[in-house]
Amino acid sequence: MSASDKKQIKVGILGATGTVGQRFIQLLSNHPYFVIHALGASERSAGQQYGKVTKWKLNTPIPENIKTKIVQDCKPDAEGFKDCGVVFSGLDQSVAGEIEEAFRKAELIIYSNAKNYRRDPLCPLIVPLVNPSHLSIIPHQKKTLGLEKGYIVTNANCSTTGLVVPLHALEKAFGPLETVMVTTLQAISGSGYPGVSSLDILDNVVPYIGGEEEKIEWETNKILGGFKDESSPTDFDLHINEDKKLKAINVSATTTRVPVIDGHTGIVSVKFSTSTSPSIEEIEKAFRDFKCEAQELNVPSAPPQAIVLHEAQDRPQPRLDRDLHNGACVSVGRVRKCNVLDVKFVCLIDNVRLGAATSSIMNAEIAVEKGLIV
Ligand SMILES: NC(=O)c1ccc[n+]([C@@H]2O[C@H](COP(=O)([O-])OP(=O)(O)OC[C@H]3O[C@@H](n4cnc5c(N)ncnc54)[C@H](OP(=O)(O)O)[C@@H]3O)[C@@H](O)[C@H]2O)c1
Repeated sequence: MSASDKKQIKVGILGATGTVGQRFIQLLSNHPYFVIHALGASERSAGQQYGKVTKWKLNTPIPENIKTKIVQDCKPDAEGFKDCGVVFSGLDQSVAGEIEEAFRKAELIIYSNAKNYRRDPLCPLIVPLVNPSHLSIIPHQKKTLGLEKGYIVTNANCSTTGLVVPLHALEKAFGPLETVMVTTLQAISGSGYPGVSSLDILDNVVPYIGGEEEKIEWETNKILGGFKDESSPTDFDLHINEDKKLKAINVSATTTRVPVIDGHTGIVSVKFSTSTSPSIEEIEKAFRDFKCEAQELNVPSAPPQAIVLHEAQDRPQPRLDRDLHNGACVSVGRVRKCNVLDVKFVCLIDNVRLGAATSSIMNAEIAVEKGLIV
């Protein structure tokens, strides 16, 4: 029997009123594996109807059955959470650490968008189109913490996600990368609601996003790394350990905020480890032919193409391309020779869908197929 024939799994959403939480609700409102059961947010919202406390910003209406649902406190014993097979978190990072830990301690399964556990050596950091194999560390996490069922899985920073999908396609086709330089042009929705004030962002570019460059530079190596011992997944090889099996990729990032509502663009230059680099035609073919495990498993959120390669010289563009495959793919274009490194290209991701909610959901769908959520 396939997972889709099974009974739907009840899910909770923490941070349900926020930018990422709203996408969770939209994407989960008619889902073949999951059914929304419990919603949590801050004490400002708890105890009130979802439709009354949420500044809904999506262009589809709040699902009728969600409008009148009562928002709970983000506590594991608040109504509904104990019955959930998985709890998705779109919590603000200032509170995610403690709340997610309390849920895990209460033997609940958390799939989180927050940064708090991304660097934890027990927690996988998973981009579903790249490294779902890292889910294999979950038994070790549970055993180490003395838990039977509870665990935490994280997904990456939104710009990192848009970057590592094409980087993974290149490593798969041509072997390890040596250097990656990336400059991002990030959408306003990336910092949640209400985000940067209109007087600061209209007619402007802000050349600084706190903490963002470090996230891209560090997370890329955990995601593209493996385990020190693949037969016994207990320690990640982050490309940066002393006894490194894989050489670290040198990543240098500059991040900027631009007046775009949704969609982070990355301007990327890459150097391969090999002495001769592949041709532009070979690189374009690697992007075009890229296939991943989420597609092989045929999970509901997997896009038909993980990478959409654009031929037109002026694409990808956020307004025109962020909705491709329901925001679940990465767009790549302008692949050309780099006079300093080997190749350069432009990539684009929907920061709130594949950059956040869609990744969490796809990670959980893969976990259902692997028997890690029942
Ligand atoms: N936006 C993106 O593109 C994006 C992409 C990747 C990852 N992320 C990450 O995803 C998370 C959510 O981001 P967002 O953009 O959705 O932020 P947001 O719009 O500011 O929403 C934050 C959510 O956290 C809740 N919250 C705040 N303080 C709380 C508290 N003390 N207790 C319980 N709940 C509390 C808020 O509830 P109230 O409404 O009740 O205040 C709201 O539901 C962050 O960790 C962010 O870094 C965001």
